[in-house]
Amino acid sequence: MSLKHCFNTKQFRKLAKRRLPSPIFHYIDGAADDEVTYRRNTAAYDDCDLVPNVLSGVDSIDMRTQVMGLDIELPLFLSPTALQRLFHHEGERAVGRAAQAHGTLFGISSLATVGIEEIGAMISTPKIFQLYYHKDKGLTYGMIDRCKAAGFDALALTVDTIVGGNRERDLLTGFTSPPRLTPSSLASFALHPEWTLNYLFRDAFELSNLKDHIAEGSNVSVSVSDYFSSMLDQSMDWNAAADIRERWGGPFCLKGVMSVNDARRAVDIGANAIMVSNHGGRQLDGARAPFDQLAEIIDAVGSDIDVICDGGIQRGTHVLKALSLGAKACSGGRWYLYALAAGGQAGVERALGNMRSEIERDMKLMGAKSIADLGRHNLRWR
Ligand code: LAC
Repeated sequence: MSLKHCFNTKQFRKLAKRRLPSPIFHYIDGAADDEVTYRRNTAAYDDCDLVPNVLSGVDSIDMRTQVMGLDIELPLFLSPTALQRLFHHEGERAVGRAAQAHGTLFGISSLATVGIEEIGAMISTPKIFQLYYHKDKGLTYGMIDRCKAAGFDALALTVDTIVGGNRERDLLTGFTSPPRLTPSSLASFALHPEWTLNYLFRDAFELSNLKDHIAEGSNVSVSVSDYFSSMLDQSMDWNAAADIRERWGGPFCLKGVMSVNDARRAVDIGANAIMVSNHGGRQLDGARAPFDQLAEIIDAVGSDIDVICDGGIQRGTHVLKALSLGAKACSGGRWYLYALAAGGQAGVERALGNMRSEIERDMKLMGAKSIADLGRHNLRWR
């Protein structure tokens, strides 16, 4: 199996599983507790059917949209995710270049393995920075200033990781950042020599945006869950979010809003967007799926703020269903991370290309020439 056999997310996942030592694969693939929310995030789309219109003259399709005032050529973007050089040695550089090739938005995490300045200088497609609100305010505020100086277009404050989720796959495999060789993981690293050689002999692993402030994650191995619980500030509240927005002063988004009440408060503090997200089911298992929760949030705040559906996306039709409900765009992590692990930049470009052609083909089949043509009239619930 190679990249050219990857026509969908499941196939990229399969290839990623082959390429990665198992602790790394399960870090991407796993979620919290019984992983009920993780499964529901994708299954939710199947409870809703598309009702197409025909004879609409669909020879040319416009897939462009705007999020937070940023123009993107596709209604789907690459959510910021952590630790990408562990998944492929090209890491965030590959993801940024692939997003740029497709004219869509991408993000890097506070826990990225390439620095804010390097990405700022290298990538011209719209860029979002995912801020984790650390106890160390010099670090938290410093990252905001660095993003401004580096020309990032938007800031997303993550609000759903106040403590680490219970990720039992990581507990079983002993996954940490940086990875630790343990008696049980040794075989898995030895069985993936290409990954292991890249890890050992390419640029040294680091959490580039954190390393000058804290040793955890770069020089001291910790699980991501312990990192969240020990390094992030659990006193974070609406005042803190408003303060961050003010310090940043540009397009601002809250990532991980699930309730209508919180969506309204996001409007009140002047956020430009919310990512309706449960962090890929990696935090609170049993939380509702973004797609299930989308309609009530859009009904409440859809005219005041951009609502982004983040989670479970594996198909172009999933994107069309969320847009039909009124989302401005969709985003996700695993769908492109499997592709990154499967084939670096070429993998992510292929995943984006697959999604682009699915969205375009499906819009034609729906009789929708532009995103504005999609609406609730073309959805029915079973
Ligand atoms: C995770 C973080 C780092 O879910 O986003 O692992």
